[in-house]
Amino acid sequence: MILETIVTTMDPGGVINFAPMGVEWGEETIVLKPFLETTTFRNLSQSRAAVVNLTDDAMLFAQGAISSPQFPSLPATVVRGAVLEAACSWRELEVQAIDATPPRARIDARVVHRGSRREFIGFNRARHAVLEAAILATRTHLLPAEQIREEYARLQVIVDKTAGPREREAMDLLTQYVRNR
Ligand SMILES: Cc1cc2nc3c(=O)[nH]c(=O)nc-3n(C[C@H](O)[C@H](O)[C@H](O)COP(=O)(O)O)c2cc1C
Repeated sequence: MILETIVTTMDPGGVINFAPMGVEWGEETIVLKPFLETTTFRNLSQSRAAVVNLTDDAMLFAQGAISSPQFPSLPATVVRGAVLEAACSWRELEVQAIDATPPRARIDARVVHRGSRREFIGFNRARHAVLEAAILATRTHLLPAEQIREEYARLQVIVDKTAGPREREAMDLLTQYVRNR
């Protein structure tokens, strides 16, 4: 199963990178598949560590999809890295193997620590709609504009029906972004 997460990694100078990434979930092992040109891939190759953050805040996926944001964070417990302050729970990872075959690496990592910060509340359709819209926003160079418009119109209906203010704001942010592309 692939879970959508915010992956935090650190460069040699201690600069933290936050990126939305779908990861292959496992209790003992997690597989990451960053494209070779991402900062996440570069940092993982150098530091051999990452933190996978689970959060219900869809805004972070929206912001991460269209920019390189810095979010509030705390030091990780076991690895050299950072835990997202907005995480419900997290896993700290040590890289075991890297297959850097283009275009997308496969990085097998071992879970060396796990922690939780707050409750993860239940399914919300608007949050999932924002996640889908965020992924589409990263693919504007690959997909026809008409397809993106149609998908956004469909997702907006779900947001209008089920969102809170945070999801509405996240969807507006993404809509503005794709309109300008
Ligand atoms: C929900 C979601 C899942 C994503 N999953 C991946 C992924 O598995 N691998 C990847 O390289 N990019 C993925 N992306 C795109 C990256 O987040 C995006 O390219 C980001 O700019 C890369 O960040 P970085 O260069 O800071 O590491 C995903 C985006 C979203 C919104």
